[in-house]
Amino acid sequence: MTFDRRIRIAPSILSADFADFGRECRAIEAAGADWVHVDVMDGHFVPNITFGPATCRAIRPHISGFMDVHLMIAPVDPMIEAFAEAGADLISAHVEAGPHVHRTLQAIRGSGVRAGVALNPGTPAETVSNLLDMVDLVLVMTVNPGFGGQKFIRSQIDKVVRLREMIGDREIHIEIDGGVDQETAPMVAAAGADVLVAGSAVFRGGSVDDPEPYARNIHTIRAAAESGATGG
Ligand code: DX5
Ligand code: ZN
Repeated sequence: MTFDRRIRIAPSILSADFADFGRECRAIEAAGADWVHVDVMDGHFVPNITFGPATCRAIRPHISGFMDVHLMIAPVDPMIEAFAEAGADLISAHVEAGPHVHRTLQAIRGSGVRAGVALNPGTPAETVSNLLDMVDLVLVMTVNPGFGGQKFIRSQIDKVVRLREMIGDREIHIEIDGGVDQETAPMVAAAGADVLVAGSAVFRGGSVDDPEPYARNIHTIRAAAESGATGG
């Protein structure tokens, strides 16, 4: 994957049909998804449980592009190898998930996949200032993690601006996760984000048997983000 900051849309399968993940991954990629965002939750770090390495392994053959795995779990380290072997292209871990995030990021990169660090809404951007030479992505939660369909937390926009300053010309993506839709996409793109996770705003109105709305929704979010990025 060559590094560039063009806008990427990463639909979250949290909003997909849990009985049909393989077909849903194919449908969102056919509808224009750049990445597939996989929201892993353990019922401990966040108040919900979704899926684990076995699901990632099962959907991997149905994803021709980039599998972006977001670990909302604690502890992280014991599970890194399993997600890397399941086919993740990038694994993001939460800075809040344990006392040794530096070691966790070393372990993610050591497993041969790209590394991301994720920040909950209550965690300041400066928390990652010593980690910027160890990551390929910083994930900014714009909702409190655990569920799709929540309201976007606008205070996080300032955090994106601050992160963009801190990152400078390093090859690091800023990913936004939570409440992204055609209204919020331009705000976060203008602030410096380039990868937009969207669950409910992508899957809304469609289904794996009627994926046309997926394509419309992805196009709408992308166009809104690109207008925000260029100040259009
Ligand atoms: C929260 C999840 C959600 C999901 C996106 O833990 O990470 O942010 O990916 O959900 P929507 O786009 O529906 O807010
Ligand atoms: Zn996520």
